Amino acid sequence: MGRMDGRVVFITGAARGQGRAHAVRLAQEGADIIGVDICADIDSNAYAMARVDDLDETKNLVEKEGRRMYAAVADVRDRSSLSQIVDTAVKELGHLDGVVAQAGICPLVTTGGQPFIDALQVDFVGVVNAVEAALPHLRSGASIVATGSLAALLPGATDSPSNGSGGLGYSLAKRQVASFINDLAVVLGPEGIRANAIHPTNCNTPMLNSEIMYKQFRPDLENPSREDAIGAFPAMSGMGVPFIEPEDAANAVLFLLSEEARYVTGVQLRVDAGGQVKLRPQLPTF
Ligand SMILES: NC(=O)c1ccc[n+]([C@@H]2O[C@H](COP(=O)([O-])OP(=O)(O)OC[C@H]3O[C@@H](n4cnc5c(N)ncnc54)[C@H](O)[C@@H]3O)[C@@H](O)[C@H]2O)c1
Repeated sequence: MGRMDGRVVFITGAARGQGRAHAVRLAQEGADIIGVDICADIDSNAYAMARVDDLDETKNLVEKEGRRMYAAVADVRDRSSLSQIVDTAVKELGHLDGVVAQAGICPLVTTGGQPFIDALQVDFVGVVNAVEAALPHLRSGASIVATGSLAALLPGATDSPSNGSGGLGYSLAKRQVASFINDLAVVLGPEGIRANAIHPTNCNTPMLNSEIMYKQFRPDLENPSREDAIGAFPAMSGMGVPFIEPEDAANAVLFLLSEEARYVTGVQLRVDAGGQVKLRPQLPTF
């Protein structure tokens, strides 16, 4: 018996990183997956997005677990495209029981309006779009999880002036995700549908393993490498670790989607190795 037997989960940003880990972990527990990813770059974001090959690999990994995956290229900023994909996939897979809205960008060290808007559109509006596309299919017992960020919720981190307009947009978007999930839990509770957020600290994915991130952690160096940055990464952890693994976030998502969490809703679950209690002591809630 798997903890997700017979369930179907819609995941945004499924091609790599945490999205892939969620797809594989949920498939290991018996879920079929609907997974979308942009599979193309966004100009204001300094590091590359996933590619179609990455999305294909996620599908292979899900199928190796003996589950089905409906995979499609889609931009979470395009709500009508998400709706078409989810409608078609639900016809094929039968129903929809969960959503993991987690596709994201982190366009740091930028100027001007566009990076600010891009961060808001992808990291917040993209979450709303994913939920809206899924809603017509969700029934009592369904569960929604959105991904925020520890750093984005710490004042002076991604929204510090040195991180520019995109960093400010990232923080604003993630704060909105936290508020949206809080209120979504209120709105959907009477229908028996739950909504929760996870807030990871540094996570060992391509978003963290990028030159722009290395520079955030080692501003003293002109061109810091991963080896240079890794000694500074534990600043975001209370346990001395440089990062969590994508599977650590996936285990939290699995719990929130599973029956074990049937009365857990409106929660902001930090998967942060104690980063928040270290960096914001005496403030136990977001
Ligand atoms: N990696 C970290 O240190 C960290 C820390 C805290 C929060 N997060 C959050 O975790 C989530 C997942 O990020 P990750 O760490 O796996 O990074 P990642 O860059 O490896 O994965 C993000 C995925 O989202 C996809 N994507 C980006 N924009 C999209 C769009 N408009 N439409 C569809 N897909 C899109 C990318 O192609 C990529 O596959 C993000 O919301 C991020 O903000 C990451």
